[in-house]
Parts: sequence; structure tokens; C-alpha cells
Amino acid sequence: MDAPSKEFALAGTLEELKIKGQLVVHGGHRPILVIYDRGRVFALDNRCPHMGFPLERGSVEDGILTCHWHHARFDLESGCTFDLWADDVPICPVEVRNGDVWVKTTFTHADPAAHWHQRLANGLAHDLGLVIAKAVHGQLAAGVPQAEIVREVALFGAQNRDGWGVGLTILTALANLLPVLPAEEAYLALFHGARRVAADCDGEAPRRERAPLGSRPDPAALKRWLRRWTNVRHREAAERTLLTAIAAGFSPAELADALFAAETERAFADTGHSLDFINKAFECLDLVGWQHAAALLPTVVGQMVAARGAEESTAWRQPVDLVALCEESTSELADLFAAGRGSRDWSGHAALAQELLGDDPARIVDALKEAIRAGTAPADLGQSLAYAAALRVARFGNANEHADWETAHHVFTYANAVHQMLTRIGTANIDTHVTAVRGVLHGAMALYLARYLNVPPARIPGDGGEQLDDLPADPETIGAALLDAFDRQRQVDLAARLVARHLTLGHSPQALIATLAHAVLREDAGLHAYQMLEAGVRQFGAWGDTDEGRHILIAVARYLAAHSPTERASLQTADIARRLMRGGALHQEAGSS
Ligand code: FES
Repeated sequence: MDAPSKEFALAGTLEELKIKGQLVVHGGHRPILVIYDRGRVFALDNRCPHMGFPLERGSVEDGILTCHWHHARFDLESGCTFDLWADDVPICPVEVRNGDVWVKTTFTHADPAAHWHQRLANGLAHDLGLVIAKAVHGQLAAGVPQAEIVREVALFGAQNRDGWGVGLTILTALANLLPVLPAEEAYLALFHGARRVAADCDGEAPRRERAPLGSRPDPAALKRWLRRWTNVRHREAAERTLLTAIAAGFSPAELADALFAAETERAFADTGHSLDFINKAFECLDLVGWQHAAALLPTVVGQMVAARGAEESTAWRQPVDLVALCEESTSELADLFAAGRGSRDWSGHAALAQELLGDDPARIVDALKEAIRAGTAPADLGQSLAYAAALRVARFGNANEHADWETAHHVFTYANAVHQMLTRIGTANIDTHVTAVRGVLHGAMALYLARYLNVPPARIPGDGGEQLDDLPADPETIGAALLDAFDRQRQVDLAARLVARHLTLGHSPQALIATLAHAVLREDAGLHAYQMLEAGVRQFGAWGDTDEGRHILIAVARYLAAHSPTERASLQTADIARRLMRGGALHQEAGSS
């Protein structure tokens, strides 16, 4: 007999099904489990949505199918699970014709994008890694733009947690890297970002909405008020002020200026995290659209007003009062910028960075003032600071304690955030520079305090024409060796040498960045690893394939090598989801034996 359509396959006769209770249909499609239960016939994907074990080994009772392996339970009719961690099992149409049972061999949704959008919402709400992974994979396969997935996750994170967190920072950092990632890595990046947002929100109280003021005070007043409320740690007032600025139509640059001014009321607050998170919120809005500013931007205010400033730390007060030094210099900034106005084409970034690495804080501040007087724009100061901070990481001595890596990392990611914020603020308003450049001063002092990390300094490979001829030469072998180095503990120097080898031979920086990204995305990386990778890639973008660019990527590689490998549990989840989504027969052999 002919099939009802070419998409249907013959499962067997109804009589046979009644006798056996179930049949499995194999073919070029996924294995399909056909079940007879109390006068009705059902057809489901035979692979358990949890980990792919064959559901044919399960048991049926009262319309409920229970998987043999971890006992996830499913409604036979809909495939919906009673155990959310397992996810729903796909079902397919089944028809009985003239005593024969036919099943449709394709599992499709009428609107795949909408289906996987809803599944992602469910996965995020219940912090279900496997569901999140499948939903991200499903959306990408359905052609949903990556930015739309980022938007869905970011808005979920903003609404379901009372404040910006690590998850949103990771999501944004990884989303920033999407343009340089191949498709498989983009899936992993989105999955990691989404799962970390879900974990951040799990068990948290949702965000409470606040409203802007009914009036529209002038921009200068709103900026002053934001600083005032930050100083007295008045979160509600600061949020309403910020919301008013958004409602008044402040540009991203003006909003950045206002928040930067408030944030830098405290020096290097929360060891730089507070400013870094603010910068990430701005970058997140660049990705998901500024129409979401009122939903996303106020989420950073709670941490900003509560953050502990370095002025409360003894190290910043004695033996040299670094806070007083910064304040004294801040009072001179307006005149310095006025003196430098009109000068152009400053290119002393690398030389200034070397001065910032000195061991006399007064001379460091003088170097910054001299650069401003010479016409250096605030963003250029930020670039020099970020490069100097990258050198701290690149030269991090192996004799330091492992935890000291984080000290070097904090300064680098703070400096990168300062650079990005100053770039965003721009140079339209000279008054803005005066306040915002405090971030450079604070970063320079944090860099100064971390000088011990380079005593003695690690040597940077590739400098002075060093060829590193004992290492492989072709890029694929270098990349494989680099991944192998990340696969073993304490391969910091080898990783640095391989990066130097790759770049000094003139191989593609993009290929190297893709390898570094792969190295991070396969791990259960911490916040700092994601931050280091993304900040490094961004700073490399500012310098290009130069000696300074090489130093920056060496810094990234050394940090990552010091923090690899991990257990890679998330990669395993992502891999299971990928194989389930592609119709692979996970565990079929093991389950059938
Ligand atoms: S419950 Fe089915 S494989 Fe785990």
C-alpha cells in the first residue's frame, strides 16, 4: 500500500502494535517510538530529551511515559514533561489506515522561531541549562538573528534580578565577540551568556520598576543630582534621576557622561567592577537597542551607589595619599585641557603607557597632565592606560600567588572600561572631560599599586625580533599547540610564546583570536576569563597587528593559561543539546544493549 505522503513511514500493523505495546521506526530520520495505550496510538522521538537515552526502554502507566534512565516523566499525548530539567519530548503525527500504523517522520513546529523563543523563556525562568542550550540552538537554526537572542536574554536578566549582575556582564562580553566567532562558537557564546544570566536570576527577587520624575530639569542639574545621590548612597533617588535623564532624551554620550561622573565620585569602586558593569550596560544597549535604555541602564545604579571606593582603603592612603593626589590633579584638569585644545595628532600612546608603569605616583600623574597639556584627548589617555594595564598582565611574574592574577586583571578590565566610556563620551564638551578623566587618574593609581606583580617581570616573547624557532611554524599547528597548552595546567609561558610565534610569523590575528575564544568557550570559565578575552580583543582592535597588539594578546593568553583547564561541564551540556537537536542517536547503542 502507498504511504499517505512521502513524509510518513509504515510502523507496522495495529494488531502487531497492540500485541507488543510499542514499536520503533528506524530510517534516515530520528528513531520514532510508537506506543499503544488504552485504545490510542502515540508517536514520539525515541530519544529522551534529557540525555538521549532510548525511551523504548521506559514504562507507560496511566498515560505517563517514564524514562528508564533518570525517570523523567512525560505526558504521552503532548510529550510535555512533568520534570522540567528533562525538557519536553517532540511528538509526531500518527495515522491508522486500513489496519496499518503510519507515522510522520519529521518533527517540526508551525513557527519554529516562536517555539524556541518560548522554550528559551522557560529555560531562563527555571535555570535549565539543557533547555537553554536547545532553545538557543533551535533559534539559530530557525534563522533568528543573534542580536534578538541577546535581547531576549538581556531583558529577562534585567527584569528578574534586582540589579545588573555577573550574568549580564558575561552575556554582553560574549555578544561583543559574536562578530569574530564562527557559527559553532556563536552557539556556545550565546548559551554561556544565557545560562549565566539564568543562574544569576535563579531564586532572586524580580526588579521593582521605578518611574522618572514628573519634571524635566536641565541636563546639568540631573548630572549634579546623580553625583549627589551617589555620594549619599540614595539608590531610589539616583534611579529616578537617571530615568528622568532617559525620559528627557539624553543621548548615549550624555548618559555615559552623567553616569561616569557619578561613578567616579569614588575611586576604583569595588576594585573596578562597578565601572566595568556600567560600561557593559552601555555596550548591551548598543547590541539590543537603545529603546530599552529605561529597562537596562538603571540596573547598574544599585551597585554604583553601594560600591566601596578605594579612598576607604589604607593602601590608597599610605604611605602616599593617592586619593588626595588624584583630587589635586582633578582641580587642574580644566586648565590643562584648555591649554591643550587645538593640538592634534597626538601619537604618544605607547610612550605614555611606559610612564604609567613607573613607581612614583606623582610622576605618573605629571605624565598624564603633560599629555593633556600636549593635546591628548581623554579617550587616548584611556587607551594608554589600558595598554599599560595589559602589560602588567603580560609581564605578570610566575612567582606571584595565583590569586594575584585577579589584581592585574581588575586593573586591565577597569582601564578598558574607562577607555570605552571616554570614547563614548567623546570630546564635544570640555567640561565633561574634567570629571570623566578622574577615571584615568584612578586607574593609573590602581596600576601603580599593582607594580609588585611585575617584580621580577616575566619576559615578553617575540620582542626584539625573537623568532622562537623551536616552535611550530604553520598556523594550524600553532593553534593546536595553543589549545593543547590550555589543556594542561600552568602552561602560561608556553601559551605566551605560541601567541608570539603566531603573530611574529605574520599569521592572521583573527585566527588567533578565534582560537583564544574557542579555548574560553570550551571551559566552565569564570567572569574574569570572559572579561579578559573580550577586553583584550577590544584593545587589540585599537592597536592592530603591532608590537603593542601582540603584547595585549599575550596578556590574554597568559591569563587564560593560568585558569585552564576546568571541568567543562557546560560544554558537555551544550554538546548533548547540539546532538539532540541535530537528530543524533545519543546513547542509542548503550541503551539498547
Ligand atoms: S531521564 Fe531520560 S535520559 Fe535522563
